[in-house]
Amino acid sequence: MSNLPSNLIIDNGDGDEPMSNLSHNRHFADVLNANLSRRSALKGGLGASITALFGGVGLAGCATAVGSAGGPLIGFDAVPVSSADTVVVPRGYKVQTFVPWGTPISGNMPAFDPMNNTGADQANQLGSHHDGMHFFPIEGKDPYSGSSTEGLLVMNHEYVEPRYMHASAVGQKLDRGAVPALVNGKRPADECRKEINGHGVSVVHIKKSGNGQWDVVPGKLNRRITGATPMDISGPVRGTDFVKTKHSPDGTRTRGTLNNCAHGVTPWNTYMMSEENWAGYFINKVGANGRTREQSRYGVRSNDSKPATSRYGWELADSGADEFARFDVTAKGANPAQDYRNEANGFGWMVEVDPFNPNSTPVKRTALGRFAHEGVVFQPGVEGQPVVCYSGDDATNEYIYKFVSKGVYRKAAGLANGALLDEGTLYVAKFNDDGSGEWLPLVFGQAPLTPFRFQNQADVLVNTRLAADTVGATKMDRPEWGAIDPKNGQVYFTLTNNSGRTATDKANPREKSRWGHIIRWTEAGNSPAATQFNWNIFLLAGPENDSLLAGKPLNKDQMHNSPDGLWFDPQGRLWIQTDISEGSMNKGDYAQFGNNQMLCADPRTNELKRFLVGPVGQEITGVITTPDGKTMFVNVQHPGATTSADDFAAGKLTGTWPNQGRYARSATLVITKEDGGVIGT
Ligand code: FEO
Ligand code: CA
Ligand code: CA
Ligand code: CA
Repeated sequence: MSNLPSNLIIDNGDGDEPMSNLSHNRHFADVLNANLSRRSALKGGLGASITALFGGVGLAGCATAVGSAGGPLIGFDAVPVSSADTVVVPRGYKVQTFVPWGTPISGNMPAFDPMNNTGADQANQLGSHHDGMHFFPIEGKDPYSGSSTEGLLVMNHEYVEPRYMHASAVGQKLDRGAVPALVNGKRPADECRKEINGHGVSVVHIKKSGNGQWDVVPGKLNRRITGATPMDISGPVRGTDFVKTKHSPDGTRTRGTLNNCAHGVTPWNTYMMSEENWAGYFINKVGANGRTREQSRYGVRSNDSKPATSRYGWELADSGADEFARFDVTAKGANPAQDYRNEANGFGWMVEVDPFNPNSTPVKRTALGRFAHEGVVFQPGVEGQPVVCYSGDDATNEYIYKFVSKGVYRKAAGLANGALLDEGTLYVAKFNDDGSGEWLPLVFGQAPLTPFRFQNQADVLVNTRLAADTVGATKMDRPEWGAIDPKNGQVYFTLTNNSGRTATDKANPREKSRWGHIIRWTEAGNSPAATQFNWNIFLLAGPENDSLLAGKPLNKDQMHNSPDGLWFDPQGRLWIQTDISEGSMNKGDYAQFGNNQMLCADPRTNELKRFLVGPVGQEITGVITTPDGKTMFVNVQHPGATTSADDFAAGKLTGTWPNQGRYARSATLVITKEDGGVIGT
């Protein structure tokens, strides 16, 4: 368990966590390759051999009987790829641009004015970089039933683009990740505060008006949760030495949530925010080898990082106030209660909040493990059965996890069911060559998680990645969202790509890791709590000649790459969203895919059609409908991000969507059918 040498950390940019898995566990692609070579007797080229990896489930070709009317689930005409700075949807659909970054929702309702808004203003406005999202019907009883015209739209804000936030940035050569030039080695404190408040979650009370447009309803249900909001720590890590800080000497509290990517919705109507690429927000001002293992295995920055600051340099705020100093996790005092050496240990969790109570304190549920949580997806709650959920660790060569609660779900317990997430078993997935799989428990005291390696269960959880390395989990191609098929309980996960592969991975005969794929599995006996499963590949993304769905290459209406967002609607349509990175999109081999997009699949017929293409520079992420399926909300994140530093300085913007203000702004799309029908039909 030694610390990692810094020269082996590969930073893949855009705030994604650096590759830090140096264990010798088999990579998922190796398993796939072994599968491919063993089945090469099928011959007939790559397509035929890979076809053998696709399972029998979903290949029956039944053409009807899934939709409520018994007809096909997918009824729209596919849209072509697009590189235009606009949103494209099928004929018969319309789009309203809604709640862009900076929309006032609470407090004194400060109007959006990015050149003049303060950090305090940002705390009363929508955050930036909209991501995972849910529509909670206004009755507040069930996450998927109730009003389809009024509710709480709750969404994550993954990160910020500082050059678009500050007057000081104008005229400077800043790329999408840069902050304005330091002044005497410091950053203005209120710029830091504004960026911290641009992160987190927005809870927005919304309502459909008579003319079919959706509006924000001002009032006390609206809430901003930010990178500074007080939070409780619960579960096995609560109160342990790992999370004791100057702010919380007893290790029970922390401040804020960061880099909230995808989300989760519990069966008891609460919202889960994930903490994904949080590690880069902290710096330990020592050499890379001086970091603790709970820092190095996640990529917390060090003096060997370039630059040797945290992602946005919040620790450099000129006020020197505690709210900023905490991002410097260097040990400075005599013990952890005198400094912030443990501040980063308060991040990397799944965080639960009751969206209907604006005064509720969000809770970091440590039993679900600490890693770059993309999101979390829950199996439906079943009376008297354990609660089961899945979460991917989106970093190069990381793992897929499952949590099974010790206690059982009781509908009547309501919000008290949240305590189920404090005690249970965290498992990590091992995908075997023969299509079987195992859930390996991460339980202290069960070999090999012995006192030789770990002190206790809190240590196992704070160091979840190391525990998973130790038990021999399968390295995956960056697990992103999960989704559960409402018709059969199968679990689907996107594996977005693995551009950070080492040479060893390049020896892999399969090159699809440039484009990503979607895996799925069925739990043994169809029991969510099972410890074994069977897996197969649903989809290999990519261009027309290098991709497969059910053994057939994707056509021009289906080609896409880097699947990321994933959601099953209640009728069984699988919505797939893409995230080609800003550094690749619209360039070289990636240009053929155009801008990031969303597709719709029917896993029972293996239909797949492109439904939507977003504007320039963005990714499409986050999708939910109202319970009646007639209004769909989709997020557009980081439009305009591909504007170069030189162009930004010159005031020449590559993308300006949605053309509401000086710069491009993340925003939500409200999609309806002109005939008032269900989205997708
Ligand atoms: Fe934030 Fe893994 O996407
Ligand atoms: Ca994502
Ligand atoms: Ca992204
Ligand atoms: Ca992504």
